[in-house]
Parts: sequence; C-alpha cells; structure tokens
Amino acid sequence: MADELKAAGSHSDEVSFQPISADSAARLGPAFAAMDPWAYYHYAGEALAAYLAGQEEAAPRLEIRVGDDLAGAICIRKNWLRGPYLQFLGILPSFQNRGVGSAALEWLEALATREKSQNVWVVASGFNTGALSFYERFGFVRVATLDGLVADGTDEILLRKRLAIR
Ligand SMILES: CC(C)(COP(=O)(O)OP(=O)(O)OC[C@H]1O[C@@H](n2cnc3c(N)ncnc32)[C@H](O)[C@@H]1OP(=O)(O)O)[C@@H](O)C(=O)NCCC(=O)NCCS
Repeated sequence: MADELKAAGSHSDEVSFQPISADSAARLGPAFAAMDPWAYYHYAGEALAAYLAGQEEAAPRLEIRVGDDLAGAICIRKNWLRGPYLQFLGILPSFQNRGVGSAALEWLEALATREKSQNVWVVASGFNTGALSFYERFGFVRVATLDGLVADGTDEILLRKRLAIR
C-alpha cells in the first residue's frame, strides 16, 4: 500500500489509518452489521467482512486505529468523479463522538488535495440524519437524491465537497 495512505501514529490517542488486516475485517464486519445503516438494510456480517477484506488497487480499504485500538474502517474509491468517493465509513460505537470520524474526513481531504482533486464525494441514506449532519458540518453539500439506489422506498443522498484548486 502506498505511503500516502498511511498516517504517522505514535501518540496513544493518535488516529491512524492502515491497510485493513484479515483479522480486523472479520471483527468489524459483524459489528457494522449490527449498526445502522447496515442493520436497516440487513447486510450480513460475513458480507461486510468480505467487502472490507477485498483487495482493489483503485478502492483501498483502511482500518482506523486510535492508539493501538481498532476503532473503525474507511474505504475509498479513488478518482471517481474528479476526486475520490468515500464508499464506506464506520466508527465503532465506543469510539463515536470523539472526533475520530472527523479525523477520517480530514485525512481523506488531505489525500484528495495532495492528488489535486477538485471534489470529494459521499452517499448517505436519507434516514441517516446523523451522518448527513456530520458530512454537512464538514462542508459537504447535498447535490442529488438517488431514489431506490439501495432498496425500494428509501433515498440515498449524494453529497459533494468542492476543494480549492491550488
Ligand atoms: C457518522 C460517523 C462516521 C461519525 O463518526 P464520529 O467519530 O462519531 O464523528 P465525530 O466524533 O468526528 O463527530 C460527531 C460528533 O462528535 C462531536 N465531536 C467531535 N470531536 C469531539 C471530541 N473530541 N469530543 C467530543 N465530541 C466531539 C462532533 O462535534 C459531533 O457532534 P454533533 O453531532 O453534536 O455536532 C459515526 O457516527 C458512524 O460510524 N455512524 C454509523 C455508521 C454511519 O452512519 N456511517 C456513515 C455512512 S454514510
């Protein structure tokens, strides 16, 4: 995995990102399956674990650690639409509301800026009001409603953050 996908982390509370291990994917899959929005859509823990463990050069999967502790995962699709698409972000409940998700968005934006991308993209379920507020606070703007994208009767919201061109 390229060095650009890693962040230094020696401080005990430091948030760091590294290619996900098979063990971490196996632990996180069932944990995320028990959480919305994945529980709402009845994702199986094994299916989420298999997705998290997947190897795709253009779609890296990273585990998020706080110090030595496994705190969540972030998966991106590089070069999606003049910038990366945040395909998956999950923070384990015991690590939520501590700034870890915000650190993940800052890490992604720094990566996109280094690659001279003009945008960062994400999709959140319309019912996932907490995640929508989280992204909007970070500067994402709703640009489209994708009805029935994941399941009939539910909307997915496409959000975009425009980055300054340097
Ligand atoms: C949405 C999600 C990724 C946010 O991650 P998070 O780590 O909880 O986010 P943060 O801690 O950075 O920010 C969330 C809240 O904590 C607050 N916060 C940030 N840093 C903080 C800190 N150091 N101490 C206390 N609170 C803090 C933020 O202000 C925010 O509060 P608010 O909602 O009242 O405005 C996480 O809740 C999650 O995984 N949810 C379930 C899965 C999900 O919905 N994923 C997104 C799918 S699109």
